[in-house]
Amino acid sequence: MCGIVGVLGKHEVAPILVEALKRLEYRGYDSAGIATVNEGVLDRRRAVGKLVNLSDLLVHDPLPGKSGIGHTRWATHGVPSVENAHPHRAGSVAVVHNGIVENYRELRAELASHGFRFETETDTETVALMTEHHMKSGLDPVQAAFKTIDQLEGAFALAFLFDGEEDLIVAARKGSPLAIGHGDGEMYVGSDAIALAPLTDRVTYLEEGDRAIVTRNSLEIRDERGELANRDMRRINLDVSRTDKAGHKHYMAKEIAEQPVVVAEAIRSCLPAASDRICLPGEDLDFSKLDRLTMVACGTAFYACLTAKYWFERLAKMPVEVDIASEFRYREPPIPERSLALFVSQSGETADTLAALRYCEGKADKIVSVVNVPESSIARESDLALPIHAGVEIGVASTKAFTCQLAVLLMLALKAAADRGTLTDEELADHAAALRGLPSALNTALEQDNSIRVAAQRLSEARDVLFLGRGLMYPLAMEGALKLKEISYIHAEGYASGELKHGPIALIDKNMPVVVMAPRDVLFDKTVSNMQEVMARKGKVILVSDDEGIAEAQDGVWATIRMPYVHPSLTPILYAVPAQLLAYHTAVAKGTDVDQPRNLAKSVTVE
Ligand code: F6R
Repeated sequence: MCGIVGVLGKHEVAPILVEALKRLEYRGYDSAGIATVNEGVLDRRRAVGKLVNLSDLLVHDPLPGKSGIGHTRWATHGVPSVENAHPHRAGSVAVVHNGIVENYRELRAELASHGFRFETETDTETVALMTEHHMKSGLDPVQAAFKTIDQLEGAFALAFLFDGEEDLIVAARKGSPLAIGHGDGEMYVGSDAIALAPLTDRVTYLEEGDRAIVTRNSLEIRDERGELANRDMRRINLDVSRTDKAGHKHYMAKEIAEQPVVVAEAIRSCLPAASDRICLPGEDLDFSKLDRLTMVACGTAFYACLTAKYWFERLAKMPVEVDIASEFRYREPPIPERSLALFVSQSGETADTLAALRYCEGKADKIVSVVNVPESSIARESDLALPIHAGVEIGVASTKAFTCQLAVLLMLALKAAADRGTLTDEELADHAAALRGLPSALNTALEQDNSIRVAAQRLSEARDVLFLGRGLMYPLAMEGALKLKEISYIHAEGYASGELKHGPIALIDKNMPVVVMAPRDVLFDKTVSNMQEVMARKGKVILVSDDEGIAEAQDGVWATIRMPYVHPSLTPILYAVPAQLLAYHTAVAKGTDVDQPRNLAKSVTVE
């Protein structure tokens, strides 16, 4: 949510900043801007909308300089406009910010009392003005920035650039991630390592409360108390080539297509080739010493947790509570003894999930996370971080991260079942064999692309869509609905099929498409009955099933998407593919922006 970047380079930085911002654009794309210092003079360029508008502006109105900062915005305070775009400037200081300054009203009042006037509606402008105020009262740039940072409440990652200072960026982190990249005689600042990947693989992550004085040849980090802090420099292994579209029209299409490969990688990470037993990487967990599980996440990751609840309860006979992080963190839920707290997050930086994790520190017996970014805050603050191996996910709508999260969560549930003795060796071996066959089933599901595209063409004309499923298909119904609304802007809801007649059935008429997820499991017949109730009211059923007879036997099924048969425990991972492809092709048919849907951003670092 908002991406920031900074470069103290040897060459012109404007193109480098724009390139780095491109890799951060998934964090927001309401407006973008850069500031540089050239021959001692601070200047900036900003444009509303996607980054391409800033690039165009820079063609006509270039910005020279070898030191600079940049920003891509997801609006919090103030509409997307040039005035509200970052960098914000006050006199001799320019600032880029990711996060929210919660006490900005108090700071504005203080600044107003000193005679300052405001040009924007943003919280960030107060940071620039306050720093300028401190500089006017005699502090040097570093002292002024540090004093301002001390006054801020809320969450922020900040980078400051100063008029007359060609070799200085001040950076700070509290609640929002920030990495410092080390080059040869160059230094970089970025919201994440992906932004810096082509520039350097040597990165130092700032910790909570850290502030950094960055020059081309030095990095000094001070902690919240102002003490010198030693932070490791790590080598980041980011396969930059994997951040292109590899011939696909959209990142989302590429990421959907990658699933057989990345899910196989996720499976291999916990299921050694020569064994049917799950073996977790890193520290081992003993579920026989744990009585309950609390799982917390947001959005798609939350639906992965809801799915995992079925697995942990059914396979490991473990009581599970699942919650949305933004609710959990403020509810002050008691965490009983012998509890495992489990946090699921693709980015590992989601503000609410991180806050929920911190709430559980010292209360839960163990804190485990399931993350895609191993260097993320959530991973670093967990006792054990299990990587999902999805690779960089750029499309704002999460796809491959979801299926990889599910694969790791299922394996965790199997480990729990083994530790607690709730599955026989034979049942564990069945699951292991089924998991090994999953990538090939995912490939077969992807081959349904054409029939899904045809169904999506019809769906694109709908105003509302229902997704129905029972058991393990219920969370997936909600995930399918989320995918569709995110990228096609069609209103969609996911319901438990059995809940239909308790209200939503009132919505069914000839204009209502209903996607029914119906694998041949123990609940199949019940789901089919619910589907018939829909068809009896002229609802348009899109049936996703592995049952060969069912579609032909039913008059009035609008479209059928045929799935291969997999072990019943694995159906949510497999059926995620048609759910994702339905949303994708519907969005393409509607001509919406698939990879960067309106109002959304990946990595939600504000609450
Ligand atoms: C939906 C989507 C979001 C994220 C949610 C949590 O397609 O991507 O709902 O799942 O914002 O993000 P992470 O997993 O990064 O914590």
